[in-house]
Amino acid sequence: MSYDLIVIGSGPGGYVCAIRAAQLGLKTAIVEKRKTHGGACLNIGCIPSKALLYASEVYEEVAHGLGKLGVTVGKPKLDLPAMMKHKDDTVGANVQGVGFLLKKNKVDAFFGTGSIPAAGKVEVAAEDGSRQVLDTKTIVIATGSDVAQLPGVTIDEKIVVSSTGALELSKVPGKLIVVGAGVIGLELGSVWRRLGAEVTVVEFLDRILPGLDLDTCKQFQRLLEKQGVKFQLGSKVSKVEANGKGAKVTVEPAAGGDATVLDADVVLIAIGRRPYTENLGLEALGVATERGQIVIDSHFATNVPGIYAIGDVVRGPMLAHKAEDEGMAVAEILAGQHGHVNYEVIPGVVYTSPEIACVGATEEDLKAKGIAYKVGKFPFTANGRARAANHTDGFVKILADATTDRVLGVHILGHGAGEMIAEAAVLMEFGGSSEDLARTCHAHPTMSEAVKEAALAVEKRAIHM
Ligand code: FAD
Ligand code: NAI
Repeated sequence: MSYDLIVIGSGPGGYVCAIRAAQLGLKTAIVEKRKTHGGACLNIGCIPSKALLYASEVYEEVAHGLGKLGVTVGKPKLDLPAMMKHKDDTVGANVQGVGFLLKKNKVDAFFGTGSIPAAGKVEVAAEDGSRQVLDTKTIVIATGSDVAQLPGVTIDEKIVVSSTGALELSKVPGKLIVVGAGVIGLELGSVWRRLGAEVTVVEFLDRILPGLDLDTCKQFQRLLEKQGVKFQLGSKVSKVEANGKGAKVTVEPAAGGDATVLDADVVLIAIGRRPYTENLGLEALGVATERGQIVIDSHFATNVPGIYAIGDVVRGPMLAHKAEDEGMAVAEILAGQHGHVNYEVIPGVVYTSPEIACVGATEEDLKAKGIAYKVGKFPFTANGRARAANHTDGFVKILADATTDRVLGVHILGHGAGEMIAEAAVLMEFGGSSEDLARTCHAHPTMSEAVKEAALAVEKRAIHM
């Protein structure tokens, strides 16, 4: 069998690439080593974590939030197996959906580990030991990423867990220690705190969520602390000793000094992810990598003709929608079109309560580049809909170029921030200004009026503040 394109890996990057290529008339196959399609995102990442985040938020709201609205209910009871079933059913429906879409678009799906014996060939090693070699004009590597390990610490996925184990715990840990105040640590730390765990987050740096707008993160940290999450910033975990029932975690100041030992029932290691390229045969082919990432040019091409790469396995943020957009773009390029990804406008969302959502530059980025900017900020305490729904925590912050007024970055801390950020992304994609946003009619009463007010605030003319 000979193909125009074989995609290795069926995560958001790979399956979107395969479907788009098939839509454009390329004879396409996809190879996946898991038993289901959808990659880390659908199986052990975005989707299961959001199912647990939503369910645990509802649990907490019923436990603590409804009385203020005049709704009195009894103490809620946690049915963890049912909550896990909701998560598993959500995953099941999504991964089946991807299988259906691949079939509908006539993409041939092969299950097994893919490797590249030579450019133009993909070998598929199935679980039953059988092997077949497929011929293809082009190959897109979309093999994603894996958990970054803490040196000297063994992840057993029971007591010392990665995000994968943290999505599967069979009971609520009494004490959860989270190593790393990044996106996974704060999202999954939030899930288990809401369900009753005492959560301590140990972070190497002196701030949470490195890379996001600092002022927004400081406010966010205060809100998380109010919710009961404890932080030990500027600290590193140097040892984790697991015994059958729990673990002793040795924590040292990052700058040096005396260590302390914390007791934990479960330790979540969430210190990042690394590109996954094992068993592909890249070294023998001479495909260039840098710090584990496959090196590509602006058209997603590696240094070996006919081999391309996208998603978590290449440079850029490790986000599902970034992988998807790269998948679309490379498929279009391979079909002779002009696929393109605008890396300046990739939104990011942390799905905690409240959410943090951002797109574009932070104040720190602009200062580092010496770009003069104006700031417009509007708090949700001054938004009618937010008050009506008891969602007054947080704000919208808009950064606009001091000379041209072009919007360079938008940062939202608040309920539903992940939905609100989309209008900022569209505005920025079209090179819009804060004036454009301020002149756009926003429905009343909506949380998104705070986005318009923040745009008005750029020129100090917000109405409701
Ligand atoms: P992956 O999704 O990792 O898919 C790669 C696929 O390739 C896998 O299925 C793997 O089995 C397969 N594979 C690997 N090697 C081979 C081989 N040799 N042969 C055949 N198949 C192979 N991102 C967001 O944007 N939003 C979120 O809310 C979000 N939440 C997350 C929560 C968690 C807990 C985690 C861990 C990640 C989360 N992410 C989120 C990140 C997101 O999952 C990744 O950015 C995204 O999955 C990357 O897509 P990808 O296609 O590059 O790779
Ligand atoms: P991350 O890179 O977001 O955060 C890791 C944190 O661990 C950093 O703050 C880092 O300073 C800290 N750290 C590193 N080594 C440490 C040590 N030894 N001791 C203490 N702290 C240490 O990585 P995370 O949270 O594991 O997530 C991985 C990737 O998954 C992210 O890059 C993100 O893109 C993606 N993801 C995205 C989500 C979303 O979009 N909502 C949700 C979950 C994951």
